Amino acid sequence: MNNSIISCNTTFVVLKLNPTDMISRALTSSSTTLCLVFLIYLCFSPSSSGNPNNFLKRGSYLSVEDDSDLLISSDNTFTCGFYGVGKNAYYFSIWFTSSKEKTVAWMANRDKPVNGKGSKVSFLRDGAFVLTNVDGSITWETNTRTTDAQTAELLDNGNLVLKDSSLKVLWQSFDFPSDTLLPHQHFTKSNKLTSRLGGGNYGTGYFSFFFDTDNVLRLIYDGPDISNVYWPNVDFDAFGNGRTNFNSTRIAMLNGTGWFSSSDRLSFRASDSSFGIKRRLTMDYDGNLRLYSLNMVSGLWTITWEAVMQLCSVHGLCGRNGICVYTPKPKCSCPPGYEMADPSNWNKGCRPMFSRICSLQYPQQVKFVKLPHVDFYGFDSSFSIGISLESCKKKCLEDCRCKAFSYRLTGEGRCFTKVELFNGYTSPNFPGDLYLKLPMHIQTSEAIILNGSNHTCKSNESTMLIGLSSSSMSETRGKSARWVYLYSFAAVVGAIEMLFIGLCWWFLFRHGIPSTMEEGYRLLSHQFRKFSYMELKKATKNFEEEMGSGASGIVFKGVLVDDRVVAVKKLGDSYLTEEVFWAEANIIGKINHMNLVRMLGFCLEHKHRLLVYEYVQNRSLDKHLFSGNVIGWKERFKIALGTAKGLAYLHHECLEWVIHCDVKPENILLDGDFEPKISDFGLAKLSQRDCNNNEMSRIRGTKGYIAPEWALNLPVTAKVDVYSYGVVILELVKGIRLSHWVVQDGDEQETELTRFIKVVRGKMQGGEVAWVNDTVDTRLNGEFNLIQAEKMIEIGICCVDENRNKRPTMDSIVQALLQCEDS
Ligand SMILES: *[C@@H]1O[C@H](CO)[C@@H](O)[C@H](O)[C@H]1NC(C)=O
Ligand SMILES: *[C@@H]1O[C@H](CO)[C@@H](O)[C@H](O)[C@H]1NC(C)=O
Repeated sequence: MNNSIISCNTTFVVLKLNPTDMISRALTSSSTTLCLVFLIYLCFSPSSSGNPNNFLKRGSYLSVEDDSDLLISSDNTFTCGFYGVGKNAYYFSIWFTSSKEKTVAWMANRDKPVNGKGSKVSFLRDGAFVLTNVDGSITWETNTRTTDAQTAELLDNGNLVLKDSSLKVLWQSFDFPSDTLLPHQHFTKSNKLTSRLGGGNYGTGYFSFFFDTDNVLRLIYDGPDISNVYWPNVDFDAFGNGRTNFNSTRIAMLNGTGWFSSSDRLSFRASDSSFGIKRRLTMDYDGNLRLYSLNMVSGLWTITWEAVMQLCSVHGLCGRNGICVYTPKPKCSCPPGYEMADPSNWNKGCRPMFSRICSLQYPQQVKFVKLPHVDFYGFDSSFSIGISLESCKKKCLEDCRCKAFSYRLTGEGRCFTKVELFNGYTSPNFPGDLYLKLPMHIQTSEAIILNGSNHTCKSNESTMLIGLSSSSMSETRGKSARWVYLYSFAAVVGAIEMLFIGLCWWFLFRHGIPSTMEEGYRLLSHQFRKFSYMELKKATKNFEEEMGSGASGIVFKGVLVDDRVVAVKKLGDSYLTEEVFWAEANIIGKINHMNLVRMLGFCLEHKHRLLVYEYVQNRSLDKHLFSGNVIGWKERFKIALGTAKGLAYLHHECLEWVIHCDVKPENILLDGDFEPKISDFGLAKLSQRDCNNNEMSRIRGTKGYIAPEWALNLPVTAKVDVYSYGVVILELVKGIRLSHWVVQDGDEQETELTRFIKVVRGKMQGGEVAWVNDTVDTRLNGEFNLIQAEKMIEIGICCVDENRNKRPTMDSIVQALLQCEDS
């Protein structure tokens, strides 16, 4: 159980605030800024030079040697000029005037620095804006030669624009971002953010944020050896990640309040979302995309959103054969039998300290070393499911190219044989192990060798502790014997660290801390987080407005301090034990799909157990379908498809396999556009094992929507959701509650559903042409799509088949519905 706690965010540690340090820095930086501004004012004051400092006229230039040759936006936010790095490398750049480190927002010549002497940026008489090096050679220029460009102006939003006499923009730096996107800057299919190479190295690096050819925003590692997309989660398709690839506009923007939205439906907001804060979205050189806010007092940046929660899942970080481990900070390491290829650069990865042997010819000369919870992403030469560890090993042995295999025990055994080892990482979450193929003579711990028969790992507490205290991860070359312990240890450290962060949080929330500090922690607490009971009590005005109640608890409407409207579900006191609660909440928090209600956080304090969800404005489906007002056909189809997508995600694509167990119109919420969002999933996060629990069956499931096998005490599978979905989709068509029981003549009882199916079957067999028309909700007055209705009835009837093996899977239902979607 504890294993799932660790899924929360490691990167919370990034911000470490030291109040006294902050104050002193703030004082020095603000006074230097003042001096600087004053100096610049003197040099550039309009009366003395006739050159106001936010624009440059045709025919003038900025010199690298003159420190005051700068353009400063009229509100002083941005400065444009020569940016010096190291001893003698200068870049024509735009940076944040009041950030302590003069953070660069844009660079013209990131890969070709110019000399600190004699270089200049000139606005030539022919309209071109040109950067020349000391020898007069052109390093960079705009495409405005032979145009009527008259002025170059640095705008308050950080955009450097060249305008002609009619003020038309001929060129703008916003069209050529480097690694940073600023608020109001359009991000389109024709540009991308590419990280720099390293801390002090501004050259073009390996990580990019861009619109992929399928219209989805992604992060990619594009290095010397390989190129790999790693975000959003590569195990899911665009829809599984809550995106869409149907909109080919490919445009995205960060607005003034810190809200980012994109045509692929990616949207997020800064945790400190509001006007008036200076922000930047930067593709960092560690492969993460982060949104930052500038603290105007200290000149330091705070992270208010980031794409990748666990840094080791960034691809390419540790190079070929390298493994990213949490120690607890993410670090690179080499597997046993390998050493760092270039001790100064992890991008070069690790090289083997042996020559390869073809295991097909010499099976006796190789062995496999187990690295627990380690995986190398990609480069699988084969994938098999439902095979034993032994057969998986055999597959790798029989393939000379196979360097290792990965074996997962979740559900059926999954076997991946690897021909290249890239993107290695260890994660306590990863439900499998890696078996590295090594020549027999390489020394490794005996305990982890697989040489024909499976040995049990004779792990020894004290050895593990030595590994823990005496060796740092990056210095373990030659100590291969301890690898098994080290990797397990890394996994454990990760878990402990996250628990620790959780505790810190709790501590900070509970105990009086300076309000600025508290603010800092709030900022970090974007997305999934823990709430205090007081906070939720305040948000819901002492649980005033009840929105509804169900088997699992009562739901209240609330407003958080950042003005987000939320739904707070108060669970019964004894609903779950503390342990289970932690585990479940963390799993649900990870689930993110547009057709599933997003869980924003939870509260676990004394007896109180509350869940905080996004607020879905249009209430649940039953309120629309079975009430006086009629919802149109288009909406009904949308709801059928969206619900199917949400369930398919839960069944097939989730990290953990989730059966909802209580699909019904009350649990399908509708947003402003009638896009359905399934609620209440994961509360009985029932894996196959738990679902057989009789008690669970009593709690979960609603009469009329429950599959027959439940009553028969058969093992519960995802097919119970398919059954319930069948009832819902037929209700969407018919517009009445089919789950109700009706009394037939005499005492015999049957549900509306049974009756409905009898009638429909009869009509279909009778070959009546108009059977669909007779079946669809009469309130629609015949306004519906015949093909869709026919498909929905067909699907519905298959879904409610008594024999669960005959019911389709949610995946195939989505496919079938997509085929008859209006285009
Ligand atoms: C595509 O995305 C853009 C920008 O988000 C939006 O304005 C437009 O309506 C979308 N088009 C479709 C067909 O959804
Ligand atoms: C596996 O290796 C161990 C240690 O080298 C050895 O004692 C054992 O007999 C081997 N088992 C088989 C089945 O080869």
